[in-house]
Amino acid sequence: MTQIGGGWRLVIHDELASTSDQLIRLAEAGEPERLAILARRQGAGRGRSGRAWQSPQGNLYLSALIRPSCPAREAAQWGLLAGLALIEAAREIDPEPAALRLKWPNDLLRNGAKCAGILAESMLAPDGGLAWLVLGFGVNLAVAPTLPDRPTACLGRAEPPEAFAARLLGRLDYWYTVWAAEGFRPIRAAWEEFGPSPGQPIDARFGAATIVGTFAGLGPDGSLLLDTGEGRRTIAAGEVLETGSLSGGAS
Ligand code: BTN
Repeated sequence: MTQIGGGWRLVIHDELASTSDQLIRLAEAGEPERLAILARRQGAGRGRSGRAWQSPQGNLYLSALIRPSCPAREAAQWGLLAGLALIEAAREIDPEPAALRLKWPNDLLRNGAKCAGILAESMLAPDGGLAWLVLGFGVNLAVAPTLPDRPTACLGRAEPPEAFAARLLGRLDYWYTVWAAEGFRPIRAAWEEFGPSPGQPIDARFGAATIVGTFAGLGPDGSLLLDTGEGRRTIAAGEVLETGSLSGGAS
C-alpha cells in the first residue's frame, strides 16, 4: 500500500477481475474511506448500464472509496464531481487541453470521442445517507478499445497508470474538500465550464424515450436541463446519445 497526497491509500494489483468489485467488498467489510485500488489489467471490468469495460494493459483502472455525509438522493452529484476531477487531471497532461470535454453524466471526450468513463456506485445507509460510494475510473491512456456505438480515443499524452492515478486522486481530494466546505454549487459551476456549450444539440435517452433538445445547463442537483420543442425538460438519470458541436467553453 502506498500513501499518497490528500490522505489517499493506494493499493496496486497486476490483475483483478474488477477494481470496483474488489473495493465494494472492502467497503462492505467496513474499510475506511480514501482507499483506492488500481489494477494494471482487469479480467471482468464493468461499465455503466451493465456493459463490459475492456481493460488491456496500459490504461487506468482505478476505484476510489469515499463515505460522504450526504443524503443518498445526492449520490449522482458525485459522478459529476468525479468527472470534474478527471478532466482536470487529464488537462494537466494533454497537449491539447481544449480538446477535452465532459459529457453528462460522466464521460470524458476528446474531440468528441470517448476516452474515459466513470462508474459511480453507492449503497444506501439505514438513516437515508450513503453507506459508501465507489467511483470507478477507466481512462484510455495507451489503448483505445473499440466500442460498438461510438468513437473512442486516448488522452493526448500517455502517462503510466500509477502516475495518472496520483494526479487524479489529488484532484478528487481537492473537489471533495470544496464540497465539504461549500456544497455542490461550485462543482456544478466548474462542471458546466467543461461540459457542452449552452445551446448545443443533445439527444438524451431517458428510460425508453429519447428526448431531443439543446443543452441548458445543469439543475441545482446536477440534473441535465434540455430545452425542447415542448419547453424545458429536467433529466435526473439517463444517457446522452449524441452531442453536437464541441466548440466553446473552457480552453
Ligand atoms: C463507463 O461505462 O463509461 C464506465 C466505465 C468504468 C470502468 C472502470 S475501470 C475501473 C473500475 N472497475 C470496473 O470494473 N469498472 C470501473
